[in-house]
Amino acid sequence: MTTVDLSTSPYLDPNLPVDDRVADLLGRMTLPEKVGQMLQLDAREDLDEAVLGRHAGSILHTSPEKVLQAAHLTAQTRLRIPLLVAEDCIHGHSFWEGATIFPTQLGMAATWDTDLVEQVARATAAEVAATGIHWTFSPVLCIARDLRWGRVNETFGEDPFLIGELASAMVRGYQGGGLDDPDAILATAKHFAGYSETQGGRDASEADISHRKLRSWFLPPFERVAREGCRTFMLGYQTTDGVPITINDWLLSDVLRGEWGYTGTLITDWDNIGRMVWEQKVQPDYAHAAAAAVKAGNDMVMTTPKFFEGALDAVASGMLDESDIDRAVARILSLKFRFGLFENPRLPDTARIGSVIAQRAHTDLNLEVARRSLVLLRNDGTLPLEPAAAPRRIAVVGPLADDAQTQLGDWAGSSGQVDWMPDGHPRAQITTVLDGLRDLVPADWSVEFTEGAGILDLSDDPAGVFPDGQPRPPIVVPREPDAAEIAEAVAVAERSDVVVAVVGDRIELVGEGRSTATLELVGGQRALLEALAATGTPLVVVLLASKPLVLPEAVREASLVWVANPGMQGGRAIAELLLGRIEPQGRLPISFARHAGQQPTYYNQIRGQHGDRYADLTQSPAHAFGEGLSYSTVEYGEVEILTPAVDVGDTVRARVTLRNTGARAAHEVVQVYVRDQVTSVSWADKELKAYRHVDLAAGETAVVEVTVPAADCTIVDAAGRRIVEPGAFELLIGPSSRDEVLQPAAFEIR
Ligand code: NOJ
Repeated sequence: MTTVDLSTSPYLDPNLPVDDRVADLLGRMTLPEKVGQMLQLDAREDLDEAVLGRHAGSILHTSPEKVLQAAHLTAQTRLRIPLLVAEDCIHGHSFWEGATIFPTQLGMAATWDTDLVEQVARATAAEVAATGIHWTFSPVLCIARDLRWGRVNETFGEDPFLIGELASAMVRGYQGGGLDDPDAILATAKHFAGYSETQGGRDASEADISHRKLRSWFLPPFERVAREGCRTFMLGYQTTDGVPITINDWLLSDVLRGEWGYTGTLITDWDNIGRMVWEQKVQPDYAHAAAAAVKAGNDMVMTTPKFFEGALDAVASGMLDESDIDRAVARILSLKFRFGLFENPRLPDTARIGSVIAQRAHTDLNLEVARRSLVLLRNDGTLPLEPAAAPRRIAVVGPLADDAQTQLGDWAGSSGQVDWMPDGHPRAQITTVLDGLRDLVPADWSVEFTEGAGILDLSDDPAGVFPDGQPRPPIVVPREPDAAEIAEAVAVAERSDVVVAVVGDRIELVGEGRSTATLELVGGQRALLEALAATGTPLVVVLLASKPLVLPEAVREASLVWVANPGMQGGRAIAELLLGRIEPQGRLPISFARHAGQQPTYYNQIRGQHGDRYADLTQSPAHAFGEGLSYSTVEYGEVEILTPAVDVGDTVRARVTLRNTGARAAHEVVQVYVRDQVTSVSWADKELKAYRHVDLAAGETAVVEVTVPAADCTIVDAAGRRIVEPGAFELLIGPSSRDEVLQPAAFEIR
């Protein structure tokens, strides 16, 4: 190893402009060092080999011990280029034992609250930054399309406008005051783009999607955060029109770096380069795959160790020019310089870890987000369970009532991605529904618990490991209903005044490569609900599910609360809601199907089909985007349009009077959709363009003004241009996306 005189090396001089430092350092690097700089390797594997052998520029999935070990190894390298340390901290510091785990992204989306989501990301960034991790692979900007997809829980739901609002807030929260901010971490907009447009919900299948369709609904949230300065973008796994998205020149060069002027860093997803060889079989070997990926503008290559040899071979054989590699490496180095890593590698800071991880303010914020994420979908009058004259007996039933780790959802503790937290997060930090009810019911009430049903067992996939050596997820074997367990649950229900049944899905049915063929409750849960409903005891179903699921007919009239995995404080928040200590405030960020065969059920579908139902079933969803009840009733008065005709540069304004006609306070989310009456090409019948949160005391009336810039009333035309087409429009204002509850008000754009 040739030594470098570090004291006189210009690249180490923080007073020089970043471009000069990059040029100096690049000039000193050997080709293997450059290729290695593009590699992000898995820290769970041989770290010495990654840092010293392959000159990796970044690592991920780094346990607390390995962060320190990696820094120690970096100090032994010739040029001492600091590592970027990355992790999926997507609803809190997922794999740091005892960190604050918030509701999943879908749960956060149910708050429809950008301030809250920004605060969550800020708190997460503070916890993450203290532990020596610089970069989170969050947020997910995919639009949820097919509910069978295993990663619906990671999205902000089905609406591009809401996704853009929340994603922008989350990126702001992570990146904080900028790269100088010690509490800032790099955000990642992922998975760019179209990954969620699966075939039948199958993860990473070909996304059959045109440029125009991408521009219409999939790209807008990405464009927004690209223009707002999201530092990194991660590519999806899928192919589109035959081309892996990793090497889609149109998307990466023309659109992202071209039209949007994006100057940030691009990272592949897990082994995307290898997948082109062994899975998609569109590249004959790693040299070709590496050449294609570098030429398409990728900067960092996640977990394809063989990219190292592949890229070296590609340069040796003339498939790739070293200058192509230089461009990518320059972008990575520039990020490291701007982030100040050469001066301060942002190592774990024990004092900060002690004060910031799970600090009181974060726990309080977590409880608040969990409360706000709960969506009351149906109430037959059983809720809230307010203190009654006589003591009440509550039966708490169901396999998820006291399952602390399942409550946290995917990407947390023992969800399967890392190996250093087999038992998950500390039980004492998590409040389950059972804990919450036991803690909060009046002293003379009783709470009796029984599980009543199991969900599943696992068996090894006989197909063994994947060709890249990664383990296949085990196969789920639904647990048969157990007559004795159900009989016990029925007995408990019969001697109680009310049943709270907590059912849903488990981690084995959620996540990457774990899409589901159906949307039904798995295992003994359906039989359990049927038996509970038959007792006649008032029943409240708490559907603690990563994504919208379909409930059995027997409970279609029962009170229903949907809670996406609600994080560590979820059980307390649910208990507060059931007991009427808080008002229900969440709204669905995604529609619920009545049957898996109704897919897709998203509200913003394109006009035009024969009829509006299946021969054997309505097309109407069980619960539509935007829905969510209060314990009170809110009436909407006539909508008054204040600007019946506007120019494109103007703002459309309307007014509506809201009246809380019930006896309790209500939190209303006034939703504003736009319908373009006639479009030059087919278009969504209506699209969310604005919403307003309004708090109303019992009996209170409020006049709410809503605004939509006319410039936002766009479509994407046949040539792929986003334009406003002058003509007749409608504002549709109301409490959800259902036509039945929306009031139209006509306006014209001149
Ligand atoms: C694969 C997932 O698709 C991606 O979302 C995640 O960030 C990476 N693995 C790293 O864990």
